[in-house]
Amino acid sequence: MKKIVGFVGSPRIGGNTEALVEKVLTGAMAAGAETELYRLNELNIKGCQGCNHCQEHGYCCQKDDMTLLYEQLKTADGFVLGSPIYMGYFSAQTKLFLDRMYAFLKVGLSCHLPPGKRCVLVYSQGRGDNVALVENLARWFESRLGVHVKGIVGGNNMNELGAVRQRKELLETAYHLGKELVV
Ligand SMILES: Cc1cc2nc3c(=O)[nH]c(=O)nc-3n(C[C@H](O)[C@H](O)[C@H](O)COP(=O)(O)O)c2cc1C
Repeated sequence: MKKIVGFVGSPRIGGNTEALVEKVLTGAMAAGAETELYRLNELNIKGCQGCNHCQEHGYCCQKDDMTLLYEQLKTADGFVLGSPIYMGYFSAQTKLFLDRMYAFLKVGLSCHLPPGKRCVLVYSQGRGDNVALVENLARWFESRLGVHVKGIVGGNNMNELGAVRQRKELLETAYHLGKELVV
């Protein structure tokens, strides 16, 4: 059975990012996958220390909840990562997670995340227009981590908690992308 893991970078329980990530996982489950969901805000993930231990040894020397997430990323067939847009960028929780992915790289040489993984990126924002930011991350995942990004789902005008539940088209896209992570 395929495994798809979800990471929510919003601290807001029941928020729009979480709802879209959950919908992607629902689609993946409908396609026969087992799923797991992690709320980054509830985990103890420290910032990258820039010590370059990973560049020499191939793994991060910090022992925190990222140890579990590294394992999940290595063993999953695919993942969905969602972030709200904060101050024109990804949330701090999401950025900590992204920086720690540096440990998968031997910079300029190789990547030791097993190849062939699929991914969906989720975002939620207010009045901004930050889709280019998410597209840039998608390109980075593809070129540096060898991850195939199946799609991006998100939108604006979603300041209200649960606003996305009225956005049928986004929920449907999330569900279909979830299926595409599996089949
Ligand atoms: C600290 C903070 C900064 C924000 N900055 C932006 C921003 O730069 N652009 C934008 O469009 N929305 C911004 N927002 C609005 C959120 O992106 C929006 O409410 C989003 O839907 C929240 O996602 P959530 O429901 O998953 O928590 C900000 C919200 C917060 C709390």
